[in-house]
Amino acid sequence: MSTLWHGRFDADPADELMAYTASIGFDIRLAPDDIAGSRAHVRMLGRVGLLAEAEVGEVLAALDQAEQELASGDFEFAPGDEDIHTAIERRVTELAGPAGARLHTGRSRNDQVATDLRLFAKRELAAIAADVIAFQGVLLDRAITAGDAGLPGYTHLQRAQPVLLAHHLLAHGWALARDVDRLADARARLDVSPLGAGAVAGSSLPLDPDMTAADLGFAARFENSIDAVSDRDFVAEALFALTMVAIHLSRLGEEIVFWTSEEAGFATLDDAYATGSSMLPQKKNPDIAELARAKAGRLIGNLTGLLATLKGLPLAYNRDLQEDKEPLFDALDQVGLGVRAMAGLMSSIAFHADAMASAADAPTAAATDLAEHLVAQGMPFRDAHAAVGDLVRRSLQGEAPLAEMVRAAPQLGDAAAELLAPGVPVTRRTTPGGAGPEAVAAQIERFRTRLSADAARFD
Ligand code: ARG
Repeated sequence: MSTLWHGRFDADPADELMAYTASIGFDIRLAPDDIAGSRAHVRMLGRVGLLAEAEVGEVLAALDQAEQELASGDFEFAPGDEDIHTAIERRVTELAGPAGARLHTGRSRNDQVATDLRLFAKRELAAIAADVIAFQGVLLDRAITAGDAGLPGYTHLQRAQPVLLAHHLLAHGWALARDVDRLADARARLDVSPLGAGAVAGSSLPLDPDMTAADLGFAARFENSIDAVSDRDFVAEALFALTMVAIHLSRLGEEIVFWTSEEAGFATLDDAYATGSSMLPQKKNPDIAELARAKAGRLIGNLTGLLATLKGLPLAYNRDLQEDKEPLFDALDQVGLGVRAMAGLMSSIAFHADAMASAADAPTAAATDLAEHLVAQGMPFRDAHAAVGDLVRRSLQGEAPLAEMVRAAPQLGDAAAELLAPGVPVTRRTTPGGAGPEAVAAQIERFRTRLSADAARFD
């Protein structure tokens, strides 16, 4: 078996070594980025005079062919191809002969793999951000079409104060806006080329890392070759940003499970986004929402697994770092699938305004408004809270309906009783960012503006 290090070794690697240490099974996903990195590297080698122009052409042609073979599935892997870097270099050397043997000049797989993974992450994080933005667009549409539909706003999952459905949906939308920010941030910070760092220390050859950085579209080159090959902050940060998206999906998922329960009856899933039961003919289950809830756990595992891998690692490259890829790939896959499934679910879910309204419009939902009515007449809030609490307690104990007691109470009376009418309390949430119709109309405009600005960032 041919290895990249055969000169120094008497024996071939053991089968168990290859089975345990090879990464080709998953890092094949980096093939397009590995080819891109090699093209930039070989062009730079040509420009600084380490390869003749004809050799550069031969290597580039071999890279083109390897790329085609990989894309078409015709690429034949050899037993020694432990990772995608080895496989492509081996194939290029087969195709380009002596010129191919110059491809790895001044390069190590340590700077190569870091370069590949940064190119990959830049592209994939942008794709996820675009998915998230599309999902936010669905939430915005649903907020607009929700009109004046209201539901209880909950604290401790106890009904607290009525809110507009639009307000509740956009609460999820703003959380995702921060996620888009985090994805953009992570992406900007990882936009640094490690190529030219070599194995750990740079090179005696006249490499030009600025040239390869610019060729690959990176914003900058590394400042320190040791840091360049050992830094995986960028993977951890990307994983955190992705995990936070997954956690936000899980919180919405839990609400969908609750809303679509027969107990709440606030919403019904479209058939295309619900599942049935193999035994219970009447069932319609919210499996997407449940998996959105569950997969956040898997994402947290990916993040904490990588952090544990990085903790205490000595500088610079260690083979441990090969364990960075599977968590990142899995996180990207799961978040992408999840965001798109939830977007479909939310675009097709039917909300039941009547059921939400009857849950929102219990007279006790106006308790805070009654207290604020008293405050408006000069009563200290703490006293107003106690007075209204006393009425609610006595009403719940069966003394009389709350409206009747409010009408009879000193400093409350008929005007205050009107606050108990269905649909009234939410109209009194007038403060900026609040849950009432005027504040929400303004919020919808701000959200729309933010969304188009974010969409432009990822164009
Ligand atoms: N496949 C390795 C990785 O993913 C890159 C190879 C570097 N290996 C080495 N022994 N220097 O990290």
